[in-house]
Amino acid sequence: MGHGIAQVHAAIGKQVVVYEPQLARAAAGRDRIAGNLERAVTKGRLEPGARDETIGRITATDDPAAVSDADLVVEAVFEDVGVKTHLWRTLDGVAPERTIFATNTSSISIATLAEAVSPARRTRFIGMHFFSPVPVMPLVELIRGPDTSDATDAAVRGLAAALDKQVIASADRPGFLVNRILMPFLAEAMRAFDEGTGSAEDIDTGARIGLNHPMGPLELADFIGLDVVLGIMRVLHHGLGQDHFEPPPALVRLVEAGHLGQKTGRGFHTYPRG
Ligand code: CAA
Repeated sequence: MGHGIAQVHAAIGKQVVVYEPQLARAAAGRDRIAGNLERAVTKGRLEPGARDETIGRITATDDPAAVSDADLVVEAVFEDVGVKTHLWRTLDGVAPERTIFATNTSSISIATLAEAVSPARRTRFIGMHFFSPVPVMPLVELIRGPDTSDATDAAVRGLAAALDKQVIASADRPGFLVNRILMPFLAEAMRAFDEGTGSAEDIDTGARIGLNHPMGPLELADFIGLDVVLGIMRVLHHGLGQDHFEPPPALVRLVEAGHLGQKTGRGFHTYPRG
């Protein structure tokens, strides 16, 4: 998701530095951005000059000290409290006082993540949750932590408006608003699949045609990443305690087998590679 976030910021004229400890992954993200922009040029929606300017605003680094000149950091690392906390603690040590820290967590408590940074920074710590694919989905969920200031809230709302994203605000509760609604739907589809009520194809066709959803629930889970979906369901189940958030066995089995959806070529469906 990080490359989509980089793309939309560069497209509105921001200088973007992608911090990625494995530079090869940053290069792969840049290739995907170039592919997206090229498709837009081919369709006549983007001038070649704007494509080149957008790409030209994005650089990559493996040095966290690059945030020493940042107005805003948007973190989009793996959905794991330990991974996110470690990164925020590192960045807090090198970012200037003015820098706003926005976490693109899908479900983890903003209050918990904000504890990784100094008390002074917590006024500038906020949840800014984008949706995949970021260049297409016009929504941002904003989640304030206990110490987030009105100025930080206003700054991030202003940025979302500049990105042409609609903002919704959620309280700092597990899964916030959208994943709290989405995950029981995905889990129920997985349980229906597991008990043999219908094939993956028929479950997805049912939602696409019968509910007018752009993707069925199993293909959407594959698209998000089954490891990510499992992580979100665990946060919801642990945090809210209701049975309908419990990760279904079919999901756990696939993740344990390394079948994580589109990104590994197999999940509830299979995907041609390359
Ligand atoms: N990056 C950039 N643009 C993309 C893209 C990508 N990865 N994928 C598709 N697009 C663009 C295409 O270029 C195309 O643009 P134009 O219409 O201007 O030509 C447009 O999106 C439609 O694409 P396609 O015609 O190829 O395919 P589609 O009509 O099937 O749409 C889709 C693809 C937008 C992904 C659509 O299937 C969809 O909306 N799916 C549901 C996505 C969704 O629910 N996302 C939320 C997931 S939950 C989440 O992100 C949060 C979380 O915490 C888990």
